[in-house]
Amino acid sequence: MTQVKKICCIGAGYVGGPTCAVIALKCPHIQVTIVDLNQNRIDAWNSDELPIYEPGLDEVVKEARGRNLFFSTDVDKGIAEADLIFVSVNTPTKKSGIGAGFAADLKFLQLATRRIAEVATSPKIVVEKSTVPCRTADSMRTILEANHRPGVTFDILSNPEFLAEGTAISDLFAPDRVLIGSLQTNSGKAACAALAEVYGNWVPKDRILTVGLWSSELSKLAANAMLAQRISSINALSAVCEATGANIDEVAYAVGKDTRVGAKFLKASVGFGGSCFQKDILNLVYLAESLHLPEVARYWRAVVEMNEYQKERFSRKVVETLFNTITGKKIAILGWAFKKDTGDTRESPSISIANHFLDEKARITIYDPKVTEEQIWLDLTDEGTKSAEPIKPHISIQKSAEEACKDAEAIVVCTEWDEFKTLDWQKIYDNCPRPAFIFDGRLMLDRAALQKIGFKVTTIGTGDGL
Ligand code: NAI
Repeated sequence: MTQVKKICCIGAGYVGGPTCAVIALKCPHIQVTIVDLNQNRIDAWNSDELPIYEPGLDEVVKEARGRNLFFSTDVDKGIAEADLIFVSVNTPTKKSGIGAGFAADLKFLQLATRRIAEVATSPKIVVEKSTVPCRTADSMRTILEANHRPGVTFDILSNPEFLAEGTAISDLFAPDRVLIGSLQTNSGKAACAALAEVYGNWVPKDRILTVGLWSSELSKLAANAMLAQRISSINALSAVCEATGANIDEVAYAVGKDTRVGAKFLKASVGFGGSCFQKDILNLVYLAESLHLPEVARYWRAVVEMNEYQKERFSRKVVETLFNTITGKKIAILGWAFKKDTGDTRESPSISIANHFLDEKARITIYDPKVTEEQIWLDLTDEGTKSAEPIKPHISIQKSAEEACKDAEAIVVCTEWDEFKTLDWQKIYDNCPRPAFIFDGRLMLDRAALQKIGFKVTTIGTGDGL
């Protein structure tokens, strides 16, 4: 069996960075080099200001960096030296061409694969870490075999990542499972064993699952689809609660006590965000359609549609509650990241909600403890493709929640940052015009305490007046 001594990870993003930093920490005998084409990102990984925020990540990087963990833009050198290469590049939803809006855009993955074929002069284990459609390993193999140097062989493994942003380090330290898919050939199984041995340095054996390649690829899409489906299910019920006077937290509690259902991931909210759920479900929808399974495609598509409905429903509720117009009114948005403990804003519900308020010509103040002002502007201008000028007079970004809420006619909580629970709400109330409205999109605030202060509180999944 190959013993892995040197690992290269292509893609120093939210997955490649933390995953391989933890491998380096837990396997001091393995040299880990994380490479990326993005010079700024690599510079940040080599500095004290890491490019992503994750609790515990700084400590991991500090301990391993320079010892057996390296960050570099020299992709070719990383590939050439490694026995095992993780491909952890982005696989966003395609924006144009066949499958636009649904299918995964595999151009980054294919470019990385081609580079491996061109540069490798010794056998490599190539590991799909990116989330990919089922049977992508086949196309990777075809690219590798068509472009490789004589005598160089490749084994391809699928090893999808199940970490959740915000808890990435604890998830990586103690994963529920590590999934490795391989071809069931002798060489496929040997490659699988080599990667399992790497994880075996800290993950108990019974948590390392080995399956076929296609099952592994599909399991990642399936896991994200099922997680997102739970959120859409509870959010659908939150609308029923609002209409009937039932309370969604109580319903979730009662339902979750059934051990067949389980209590986790049953929190109603303004909607799910993040770079993965929507993208991976749409990918599954596209896969089902390509396989002539329209009923399956329709089923999963509804999960995304329900999420859109929830965001829109929440925005509409704000407008309706503010007497059907928010034109010219100041609205504070608390939280811009798609969830707490991350600075990631990809597909964040805050973006949709802010755009809705902008359409209604409101004035918006925004505060998030971890998202930079620059990122918020990028999000509001479709990554800089739209001019910021028309919206500039309507937006202000503040350095504290108190500042953002000053003089606001409505406060809208979009991200469940812990610090929002302990704000001086009395002081905030004193600085708001009357009536002072709060919309809790995360069911995280003490409704009764806020009402006692004098706020008019609207909570997702709770009937008015309760
Ligand atoms: P990301 O966008 O943060 O990072 C990807 C990195 O790959 C970028 O820095 C980019 O510059 C680099 N890259 C692209 N092409 C390259 C090439 N040819 N050579 C070198 N570098 C290249 O993406 P993220 O969030 O890390 O996701 C990566 C994959 O992992 C995606 O497929 C995603 O679906 C999957 N995933 C993401 C999770 C998350 O929580 N973000 C969780 C589990 C899986």
